[in-house]
Amino acid sequence: MAVPLLDLRAQHATIRDDVVGAMMKIVDDQAFILGPAVERLEEAVAGLSNTKFAIGCANGTDALLLSLRALDVRHGDEIVTTPFTFFATAGAIHNVGARPVFADIDPDTFNISPQSATSVVTQKTKAIIPVDLFGQLAPVDAIAAALPQLPIIEDAAQSIGATRKIGDKIVKAGEASTIGTFSFFPSKNLGGYGDGGMIVTQDENLASRLRRLRVHGGMKTYYHDEVGYNSRLDALQAVVLLAKLPHLEGWSAARRKNAEYYNAAFAGSSDVRTPVIDPKNVSIYNQYTLRVSKRDELQEQLKKKGIGSSVYYPLPLHLQPCFEYLGYKAGAFPESEKAAKEVISLPIYPELTTAQLDEVIGAVRDFYGS
Ligand SMILES: Cc1ncc(COP(=O)(O)O)c(C=O)c1O
Repeated sequence: MAVPLLDLRAQHATIRDDVVGAMMKIVDDQAFILGPAVERLEEAVAGLSNTKFAIGCANGTDALLLSLRALDVRHGDEIVTTPFTFFATAGAIHNVGARPVFADIDPDTFNISPQSATSVVTQKTKAIIPVDLFGQLAPVDAIAAALPQLPIIEDAAQSIGATRKIGDKIVKAGEASTIGTFSFFPSKNLGGYGDGGMIVTQDENLASRLRRLRVHGGMKTYYHDEVGYNSRLDALQAVVLLAKLPHLEGWSAARRKNAEYYNAAFAGSSDVRTPVIDPKNVSIYNQYTLRVSKRDELQEQLKKKGIGSSVYYPLPLHLQPCFEYLGYKAGAFPESEKAAKEVISLPIYPELTTAQLDEVIGAVRDFYGS
C-alpha cells in the first residue's frame, strides 16, 4: 500500500462543501483583496494565539520580512537565528539588508539553543528569530530571560496553536514574543489553497506599522509614509482558512495520536530515535521527524515501497552557497550539521488510517531487520 507524505485531498474531502460554498460567495461578490473575510480571520487567529492584534499578509516569508521592517532592522544590523530551518527565515533577514548570524540547535528538540544564541550576540544584534520547528515552540522564555534587551520575532510558520508552559501559564505560539509569524502554505496544519501568512503581536504600534507596511507603506490611498510592500492576503484564502479553523485543534490532536502510535512502535530501537518534545511543550506535529542511522538508504527503501518521506533539512543554512559571504565553514554548528545528516520525516497527517501507519512502521522495521 502506498502512503504519501501528505494527502491534502483526503482533508479537502471532509470539508469540501463548506470551503467551496465560502469560496463561491467571494467569487460572486468579486471582492478579492483584504476586506471583511480577512478581518474575520485576523480576529480568529489573534484569538487562538492569545494576542491583541493579527495582520494578514501574502505568505510566511513576507510575515518575517514585514516584522523585521517594523522593528526598523536595516543594513548593517545583525539578526540571530538558527541554521536548521526552512530557508525563508534567513532569506528574509538577508532581504532587509541585515546579516544573518547563526547559533546552534539543541540536539533534542532541533530548536535554537539559548546558550548558543547568547554567545553570538554583539553590539550590532537587533533582534532574534527563534523558529518553532516541526510543531513545537522554541524556548522563547529562556531566550527572553537571557537576552532581555532584544525583540523576539518567533517564526511560528510550522506551529500555529502549539503551546508551551511558561511559569504557571500555558502560552500559544506567538503569544509570548514581540512578534509571531505564521504561514498558511498548504502543507501547514492550517493551510490555505495557495499562499498566505499572518503576523501576531501584543503591541499596538507595531500592529499599525505592520498594517501600513503590507500596503506599500501608506494607510491613506496614494499617500505613503514609508516604502512598504504589496503583501495583502486574499479573501479567497481567508474564507478557506476560516472554514478550516474549527477543525484545527482536532487535526493537530490526530497528528499527536499518530505520533504516539509511531513512538510506541519505534520505542527501544537502536537505529531510530523518536522525536523529543520538551516537557513544557505540546507539539502540533507539523512534521514527525526521526533521527535514524543509514538515513539515505532508508529513504531509498521507503521510496521503493511507495512510502513518502522527506528530509527537513539536508543542508544547514550557514553552508548554503548563497550565504558563503557570511564566512561560515563546515563544523561551525556541529549539532545542526549532525541533524541534517540524520533526520527523516514520515507521514503524520491527521487522516492517516491505522493500516497506513502500520505500513510505514513495517517498512521502517523491515529496513532495520527489527
Ligand atoms: C520555518 C518556516 N519559516 C518560514 C516559512 C515561509 O512561509 P511561506 O512558505 O508561507 O512563505 C516556512 C514555510 O514554508 C517555514 O517552515
